[in-house]
Amino acid sequence: MLKGKNLLEPKDFTLEEYEEIFTLAKDILDNRDNYKNVAGGKILATLFFEPSTRTRLSFESAMLRLGGNVLGFSEASSSSAAKGETIEDTARVVSSYCDIMAIRHPIAGYPQRASEYSTVPIINAGDGGHEHPTQTLTDLLTIKEKFNRLDNLTIGFCGDLKYGRTVHSLVKALARYSNNKIILISPEELQLPEYVKEELERLNIAYEEVKTLEEAIGTVDILYMTRIQRERFEDKEQYERLKNVYILDGEKMLLAKEEMIVMHPLPRVNEITVEVDNDSRAYYFKQAELGVYARMALIYKLLGLG
Ligand code: CP
Repeated sequence: MLKGKNLLEPKDFTLEEYEEIFTLAKDILDNRDNYKNVAGGKILATLFFEPSTRTRLSFESAMLRLGGNVLGFSEASSSSAAKGETIEDTARVVSSYCDIMAIRHPIAGYPQRASEYSTVPIINAGDGGHEHPTQTLTDLLTIKEKFNRLDNLTIGFCGDLKYGRTVHSLVKALARYSNNKIILISPEELQLPEYVKEELERLNIAYEEVKTLEEAIGTVDILYMTRIQRERFEDKEQYERLKNVYILDGEKMLLAKEEMIVMHPLPRVNEITVEVDNDSRAYYFKQAELGVYARMALIYKLLGLG
């Protein structure tokens, strides 16, 4: 039963609950008109203390397409956080203005703190370098659309695995499905954090770490590219040194399987050249589009609209 739950990290939902969301998302995709008024009178608040294009706008689009309303802010400077208000007070107050809340914050754990004071469901829309569970829903829905399964896959994660919250959330989700294999492609400085690796070990999923894209690209079913996250580096020289470490271009795509797909949570900077966009294996724009349907299904379920 998803009604009234929070989504703070992927493990908040069982695999059966994921399946409920994917089945509903697919039905919404196929029968959009059936859902256009189901959230009439409901309000989604989007509290974004950090920049976003896809997550905020796809959440708002999702609620509007369900017939609901939206309110919120897109930067901390236009909220009372700029005057020193705590996340706890903000959550307590805004939960009396809405029925469901999506929060993005640059500090890990803030959506969790908000959930302890909110009277409505809280969705973590990305907290610092920690987790991004609705991107995971989007990513899993995309994988399911392509492969019709979430198990028995080899997935390569490439780039900034240290700060990439979408990676942290997705590897842990994929580890819950049987017989997946993870290949982590990153320089030493940007490896997956130890606490995430420990979770992979606990879940008993096979993973290996390599340094070059060429070592892995020919073996993966999914190549999940990520941006080197300039805003999270304390050492700006280190960012300058690493910013061009992986560039996926047409030449490297020649090494990949015919049936593989390239995913990316976006935004991209230069890690995928635009020539790859025309390759039928480029799935990142489709992935961004599916994010609306994943979030429509999530809102529907958390509000108990069905
Ligand atoms: N994928 C993602 O989180 O994109 P935004 O930062 O644009 O929301």
